[in-house]
Amino acid sequence: MIHDARYKFRDASCILYLQLFSRENLCNLVVNKGTMGLLENEVELVEKLCERIKNGKEKVKIRVLDIGCGTGKLSIYLSEKTGCNVTGIDPGRESIEKAQKNSPSGKIEFEVQFAEEMTFANSTFDFVVSLKALHEMADPREALGESNRVLKARGRILVIDWVGGVAQTRSHAHAPKYFTRERLEEVLSETGFADIRIELNKGGELMLVEGEKKNLVHSVYAQ
Ligand SMILES: C[S@@+](CC[C@H](N)C(=O)[O-])C[C@H]1O[C@@H](n2cnc3c(N)ncnc32)[C@H](O)[C@@H]1O
Repeated sequence: MIHDARYKFRDASCILYLQLFSRENLCNLVVNKGTMGLLENEVELVEKLCERIKNGKEKVKIRVLDIGCGTGKLSIYLSEKTGCNVTGIDPGRESIEKAQKNSPSGKIEFEVQFAEEMTFANSTFDFVVSLKALHEMADPREALGESNRVLKARGRILVIDWVGGVAQTRSHAHAPKYFTRERLEEVLSETGFADIRIELNKGGELMLVEGEKKNLVHSVYAQ
């Protein structure tokens, strides 16, 4: 009896061990060391995003807004890496509370807000960023328009999201429902951004999309 139970325990712990130390999880553990919970497929483009934002030696701190921040993964990483002044917004109250707990220093402001209707004044931020959130927004076009409004003149948007179209990897199975590169470029242009650049990660399933706020005198998004 005891023998049986011991074997059952050993089998269960073996399965758990194998699950924990599968090749995929080991890769994630290695990648997560020093990257504060970023997933393996996010690190490459998030690093590029940070490089574009480095605060440098400016006396006035760069202000960055993270839309759809969830529990604060990107906001916290950005704040640590760049020293910028970061604000994160998300409509999920529980996520925002977790984000606040995840960043107890209070350096980052987290607020419950929808990206489509933000309370910030025009021209507040130098950068708007987002990680895997645009596709979840009910009205992404409105969210991009609002992002344009809260950006300062020549402010930049940097969005990382899944690439729409044909699935590239197993985790990319929902590809048809995401923005294609071409469509996202079009919507960014319609919502007041110019100089739009798109870069893919090595796996080809994520894109980093970048644009600069253009001066639109007659647009609904102009200030
Ligand atoms: C897949 S999660 C990504 C969260 C976070 N950026 C990360 O990478 O961990 C998508 C997030 O988008 C948020 N979201 C959904 N609709 C939104 C909206 N209208 N405005 C802002 N965020 C929204 C969700 O609440 C969720 O936290």
